[in-house]
Amino acid sequence: MALAIITGASSGIGMEFAKELKRTEGIDEFWFVARRQERMEELRDSLGARAKIICADLTTDEGIEAVRRALEEEKPTVKYLVNAAGFGNFGTFEELTENEVVKMIDLNVKALVLVTHMTIPYMERGGRIIELGSGSCFTPLPAFNIYSSSKVFVLHYTKSLNFEIKKYGLRATCFCPGWVETEFLGKATAAGDRVMPKKMVPLLSCNKVVRKCVRAARRGRAMCVTNWYTKLQHLLFKLLPDPVLTRLWIGMLDKKLW
Ligand SMILES: NC(=O)c1ccc[n+]([C@@H]2O[C@H](COP(=O)([O-])OP(=O)(O)OC[C@H]3O[C@@H](n4cnc5c(N)ncnc54)[C@H](OP(=O)(O)O)[C@@H]3O)[C@@H](O)[C@H]2O)c1
Repeated sequence: MALAIITGASSGIGMEFAKELKRTEGIDEFWFVARRQERMEELRDSLGARAKIICADLTTDEGIEAVRRALEEEKPTVKYLVNAAGFGNFGTFEELTENEVVKMIDLNVKALVLVTHMTIPYMERGGRIIELGSGSCFTPLPAFNIYSSSKVFVLHYTKSLNFEIKKYGLRATCFCPGWVETEFLGKATAAGDRVMPKKMVPLLSCNKVVRKCVRAARRGRAMCVTNWYTKLQHLLFKLLPDPVLTRLWIGMLDKKLW
């Protein structure tokens, strides 16, 4: 039995990883972690695979403990861990509520780190960890600050972890896609009256970017950037000073910031 644990499996990128890992990596057992149980049940049925469904809000201590308890009780051998649970809301510091800010950090950073740390002891040589970063982690992004900053953490964390776990034959990959066609943007822009981009670049196909990421993870890459404009963004980040990059981004927003 080859097992994958996927957080955020009820939608978008996490759901796509389940399909891809079953198709190409011979994963025949899953643990799905998210809040929407029916979605995960539907995924399990459509995959025709064994799946344990952990219905948990990972921004809460109880949610984190549910994952820890399952690991301690079942002592599985985990081949893949994919941390895809995450969200980001547009808005300046005046617009975001304290609750939104804390939840973004709790889910995108704290839950990702805790789930990773509690799972590593259950992984054997050849195991792979995929952490969801974002193309937004290459540039300071006013009005998307908390989200993009949380993804900077994920990038640095994953790159360092990749070194730390090499001696166990494990690898960690930070996946940094551009805008992908999922429920993410609808939720990010749900409070329609806030500062946000005027127009989004064409959205990437979830299936294509996930396929590329699985290949990169198999090869043990520390980072995976899948599409041309995110690669360009990454290159510009190395070449141009932050204020220039930030001004380019501000020019894409629908309201003046000052
Ligand atoms: N789509 C993009 O353009 C894009 C680009 C770069 C990076 N990313 C990153 O990719 C990851 C997946 O995003 P997506 O695009 O697939 O978005 P999505 O379709 O909205 O999926 C987000 C997933 O996270 C889960 N989730 C949200 N809040 C949770 C909570 N409190 N506890 C447990 N699970 C929770 C959701 O499940 P429930 O609602 O059922 O709990 C869902 O399964 C995120 O980390 C995101 O930052 C997305």
